[in-house]
Amino acid sequence: MPPNTLPALTPLQETLWLTLCGRALDNRLPRPILGDEMADEIVREAGYDYKKFGLIPSAAMNIAHRAKKLDEVAERFFARHPDGVGLDLGAGLDSRVLRISPPPTADWHDIDFPEVMAARRQLLPARATPHGIAADLTDPAWLDTLPTDRPAVIVADGVIAFLSMEDMISLVGRIIDHFPSGEIAFNGYSRFHVWAQRHVPMGATRAVRDITKFSGLDDPRDAERWHPKLKLVKEILCTREPEVALFPPVLRWWTRLGAQSAAVSRWGNVVLHYRF
Ligand SMILES: C[S@@+](CC[C@H](N)C(=O)[O-])C[C@H]1O[C@@H](n2cnc3c(N)ncnc32)[C@H](O)[C@@H]1O
Repeated sequence: MPPNTLPALTPLQETLWLTLCGRALDNRLPRPILGDEMADEIVREAGYDYKKFGLIPSAAMNIAHRAKKLDEVAERFFARHPDGVGLDLGAGLDSRVLRISPPPTADWHDIDFPEVMAARRQLLPARATPHGIAADLTDPAWLDTLPTDRPAVIVADGVIAFLSMEDMISLVGRIIDHFPSGEIAFNGYSRFHVWAQRHVPMGATRAVRDITKFSGLDDPRDAERWHPKLKLVKEILCTREPEVALFPPVLRWWTRLGAQSAAVSRWGNVVLHYRF
């Protein structure tokens, strides 16, 4: 289905193509990190011009790598809580539920703006959105439809950059106050990361320069101050994760060099995992 038959998307909503194209391009590599065939299929079917993002293979691999780390958090959560609830905040056109296959006793909810949920219905098979919530994440009302007596895992991939620190803190607070317990994971952005996106936009980051709102988080423990129940489980520095072995030789060497330093690793791909 060509993109011009889809609902009109704002520049913020359009960023869903960036991450989708990243995962699609990763799938076309000889040794994919994530192997997201559905992303590849949608980008091909929609005939989306992914070249406009200037995505280079290393950027595509980074997008796929952090998605994989978030998938793992959700998979491990459902192994321990088969009756749990999963939320993908700002899900875009991601079909995470198909990659992680939660147990039938679990429930999975994808949340994004109404236009994006309409695009999901057009482009993705129904099984990719067991439950869809068409809402602005900053609107407190969307949580009202969700159960309050089951543990929850919440992931946000490529989303917090578009929320202000105040939005993020109140969103996390509302989630924690809603569910009895759970886990939250999102890809982090350091202050340097945000600064670089604004001042030295290159390739894919050009698309997000003017709509980034998050001010950056250097120390993942700072988020523990957002809510008394929020505790850091792990700062996942992707430079130190096993998938680096799949990188092409020069990138692998460069990444392993960076992995020696946590500070340098934080300039790149980081996934922050908390419990409450
Ligand atoms: C970069 S895309 C990532 C999409 C998806 N998580 C992925 O990995 O492909 C950012 C997504 O966040 C959504 N988003 C950003 N701010 C939002 C908000 N306040 N409420 C709902 N969705 C939001 C956008 O509509 C977009 O789909």
